[in-house]
Amino acid sequence: MTKVLIATDKPFAPVAVNGIREIVEAQGYELVLLEKYTSQDELIAAVADVDAMIIRSDKATKEVIEAAKNLKVIVRAGAGYDNIDLAACTAHNVVAMNTPGQNSNAVAELAFGMMVYMARNFFNGKSGSELKGKKIGIHAYGNVGQNVGRIARGFGMEVYAFDPFMTDEQIKNAGATPLHSAEEMYKMCQYISLHIPATEQTKKSINYDLLKDMPKGAVLVNTARKEVIDEEGLAKLMEERADFHYITDIAPDCDCFSKFEGRFFATPKKMGAQTEEANVNAGLAAAHQIVNFIEKGDEKFRVNK
Ligand code: 3PG
Repeated sequence: MTKVLIATDKPFAPVAVNGIREIVEAQGYELVLLEKYTSQDELIAAVADVDAMIIRSDKATKEVIEAAKNLKVIVRAGAGYDNIDLAACTAHNVVAMNTPGQNSNAVAELAFGMMVYMARNFFNGKSGSELKGKKIGIHAYGNVGQNVGRIARGFGMEVYAFDPFMTDEQIKNAGATPLHSAEEMYKMCQYISLHIPATEQTKKSINYDLLKDMPKGAVLVNTARKEVIDEEGLAKLMEERADFHYITDIAPDCDCFSKFEGRFFATPKKMGAQTEEANVNAGLAAAHQIVNFIEKGDEKFRVNK
């Protein structure tokens, strides 16, 4: 019997797990669940006899892929797949997929939750500021970025975007003013919202030199990945500029930020995609993609080409 594993350190909402179960069992497959596991060894043991698996930010390392002798398809229920060893997947004939767009509204809403929280001084009663009329620069204008743009327009912000993989026309049609370099955008916009993936090219690319010319009252919003930030460079800048703010959904590795009281905020656990709606959207999409792959060989959304 085809066995599908959901391996989620950060579990889906029960309604999403039930929905995945229905899809999987309707095909006569078996669903097994590994949630809130505490070591990679547990994950390695759980994959031993599964044909397919659904993960979130869980680390599908070479060891995991090698231990999964029957694995044919792994789906990251979400956008970023930097947690999957794609070379190991390809070497072991495993198709890796993501579910682009399915959790993007949730992530965009959290970005605004954090922006308002910071602009209103963590609701401490002191007079704060408004988002209306402020310039926001969206770094990468894909699914999440475009949702950020839509919500920003609702707030009455001026919306700019830089995305080297899109034409000016595409960016304009998606409701933002296109800019042609990150440098230009960071110089112009008080708010910058990051939506770039963590790749060899982007790691530590959000650095001191790029950030230093942001306007007064600068706010860097990170709902992307901690790896894209040059944390030492950012901390140095925050030492030098008492008007610079950093809000992030991914706690930094460096413990050098907590001293910036009132200018730094990190969610206690990555929360962007953690809504029932996003869990259902991404989880069910992942289950359908597995069924379509196993039954029809459909490789749409494959990322290890
Ligand atoms: C993504 O890449 O889809 C987001 O970062 C969400 O990650 P999560 O599923 O671990 O919450």
